[in-house]
This record gives sequence, C-alpha cells and structure tokens, in this order.
Amino acid sequence: MKKIVVEGGKILSGNIEISGAKNSAVALLPAALLTDDTVEINNVPLISDIEAIKEILEYLGAKVIIKGHTIKINSKNVENKIIPEELAKKLRASYYFIGSLLGKFKHAEMSFPGGCTIGARPIDLHLKGFELLGCSIEAQDMNYLIKTEKLIGTSIDVKHSVGATINMLLASVLATGTTIINNAAMEPEIGNVVEMLIGMGAKIDGKDTDKLIITGVNKLSGTTVSVIPDRIEAGTYLIAGAIAGNNLNIRNICVDHIISLLDTLKQINVPYTINKNSITISKGVDLKPINIKTDFYPGFPTDLQQPITTLLTLINGKSTINETIYENRFKHIKYLNNMGASIQIVDRTSIIAGSTALHGKKVIATDLRAGACMVLAGLIADGKTEISEVNHILRGYENMIEKLQAVGAKIDIVEI
Ligand code: UD1
Repeated sequence: MKKIVVEGGKILSGNIEISGAKNSAVALLPAALLTDDTVEINNVPLISDIEAIKEILEYLGAKVIIKGHTIKINSKNVENKIIPEELAKKLRASYYFIGSLLGKFKHAEMSFPGGCTIGARPIDLHLKGFELLGCSIEAQDMNYLIKTEKLIGTSIDVKHSVGATINMLLASVLATGTTIINNAAMEPEIGNVVEMLIGMGAKIDGKDTDKLIITGVNKLSGTTVSVIPDRIEAGTYLIAGAIAGNNLNIRNICVDHIISLLDTLKQINVPYTINKNSITISKGVDLKPINIKTDFYPGFPTDLQQPITTLLTLINGKSTINETIYENRFKHIKYLNNMGASIQIVDRTSIIAGSTALHGKKVIATDLRAGACMVLAGLIADGKTEISEVNHILRGYENMIEKLQAVGAKIDIVEI
C-alpha cells in the first residue's frame, strides 16, 4: 500500500510533458483483437489501467510486446475464453473486450466491468446495441454471455455514451451490412479509435461527428496508430498551473481538445498563452467566480469537474458546478471541506464559497479524478497533505509524482 505526501506552497515552473490518453489507449489495445496481423500502438501511457488490459490480452492468448511507449499486439492465437471477474473488475474499460470478442468470434463472456464508483454506471446501452446487432444475451450474477450466429448491421441510438459508441464500433466493423450509430459520443478518443479501425481496413464514415456509419468488411489487417495526447491529464496540470504556477509550460497538448477548459480559465481570469502544441500558464490574481456545467464533449468534461473544484476554492465569491453526467461524483467535497473549503452539495450542484485557505490533512483518493483533486489541493494547502488509496490515481496518471517534482512540487509517494 502506498500514500502520496504533498507539502504545499511551492511555485510550479518549468515543463510538463503530457502522455498518451488513457481513455484512447484502453480502447485501442482491445481493438487489436479484431485482426490476426500485428498492430503497433505508439505513445501508450504506462499506467496501471494499461497493465490490466495487457493482462487480459495475454490471458486470451495474444502476444504483447512493450518497448518504451510502443506496444505491439498479435492476436492470431487468441482463444475465446471467459474473462474472469478478477480481471474484468480491474477497470471499467474491460467492457471493450466484449465488442472486440464479438467482432472476432461472435461470442463473448465476461462479468460486469469495474471502474470508479462515481454513479450507477449501467451498461444497458451497450447490451441493447449488441441485441440490435442480432446477439442473444444471458445475464447471471453480473456475468454476461453474449453471442450470435451472425452480426447484422443495425441502427442504434447510444445517447452520447463514450463506452457504448466504441463498443458498437468494435462489434460492427466486421458485421454484415451497414450499422448507423446515432447520437454517437464525439470525445476525441473515439476519433482515435475510428482512425485505428480505418487503418485496419474498416469502412467508417462520419469521424468526429455524432453519426457514425459503418459498412461491415470481411477482414481487418494490421496497422500502426498513435495514442492522442491525454486532454484530461493536460487539464489537470493546467489547473495546477492556475493554482500554483509561474510560467508553467504544459507540452504536447492538442489545444482543440481542451477548448471548454480554456474558455473557463479565461472567464475566471487565469493568465495563459497558447503556443501551438503547448500552453504556458500562471497563477492568476483577481480571479472571478464562475458557474460551470459538465456536459458531453465538446462541453466541460466531467473528468475535470473534481480537479477544477480546487481552483474555485481560491476565488472570492460563490462559484457552482452542476454535474450532469454522474450523480455521485462528489466524494472529493468531504475532504476539501476537511481541509478548510466551504462547499455545499445541493442535488447535483456543488456550491463553492471562496476564498478559503486549505490546510494539509489526511485525505482519501476515493476515485481517479477525486485523487487528482486531492493532489491539487495538497499543492496549495499549508503543511502536509497525506493521500491514501493512491492506486486510483496511478490507474490514470503516468509518472504524476515525477512530473510534479520536476516543476518544483514537494511531493512523494511512499510505502505505508
Ligand atoms: C467514459 C470515460 C470516463 C468519462 C466518461 C464521460 C473511458 C474509459 N472512460 O466513461 O473517463 O468520465 O466517459 O465522459 O473512456 N450510461 C448509461 N448506460 C450505458 C452507458 C452509459 O446510462 O449503457 C450513462 C452513464 O451512467 C453516464 C453517461 O451515460 O451517466 C455517460 O457515460 P459514458 O459516456 O458511457 O461513460 P464511460 O464510457 O463509462
């Protein structure tokens, strides 16, 4: 067991390099199952969610070679085995193996996926999509057996669900006929998956729009693809710059993917400059309160809702965040309040009364982005903040400790 210890009050300056996007990589790796050829995936973040995906690929019989941030996967000898609960539970994105195994074998068996407990997080839209593609579904004790003789193109409304959009893509690229995904999520990670599938020979129209049209093909081949930069990691470090930076330079950013955050920071009066693929940001003075509402891309990402709360505690006046995606993504509030913040939750809105000074305390990373919020709070708190259950943070941030140390933070990860 490990904990993160942060001593707050340090100024952050220098460069932070953004890694490949977790939410892309966790879909690109299972997609490699759809061909017997070798797939090469570059810029893969080395985080524990990727370890977990690799473990499932190897359990199924895939050959996985990791060299630096490049992963080569060959799935020629993959067997269609039941994915056991202890593997499926390690991460939410294990559900992408259902789509890939259905595409490859027309048969998949797996238990309910894991992931952060930030809301009910059902997978009904995924299951409905598989049914519409012609599958039968047997569910027993959270275990799903999904199979068909033949996947047949269909039309489905995935209601902007990221996971359901990707799972429909994976299951339909090798189906017979045309599949139309309506109200497809438009998160950039989906474009990355479409890019990889097209590289493998899939026929997909409508990339980066909310209507994807897939014409099934008989076979897919190998390809090379790069994981896009992680917009949530970039957002987290931009917020670090906004609360404690002095010309903190965040590099390898895709600026187009974080427009909603940049607009928000501008409204708050945080000074930053954009230089092509990097952004230099500093702690602002005379910050303005704001009302934020999370939304599907390109709206304000729910994954930055918890991290940005830390910034809002520094602002004089009342700020609010309305969380429209997950009903239970407020576990960080209790700990911020313990540290000295003044935040109330009313229905699905947090109301932040600032400015309040934060003081170092023992806190818990209840989920991945709550953990990021605790690290950010530790950076500006006086004294020492000790964060436990850091496995959540390690699932999604590559080398977070090293990256923050390199720009001046006093932060360590230690064995308990
Ligand atoms: C993905 C991201 C996660 C991000 C979320 C929203 C990955 C691995 N994770 O999660 O970081 O917070 O998008 O941007 O990419 N829903 C249903 N039924 C379903 C599926 C979803 O009701 O079958 C609901 C969810 O409970 C939630 C909303 O739809 O309220 C959005 O969920 P979804 O976009 O599917 O999120 P994930 O793919 O799980």
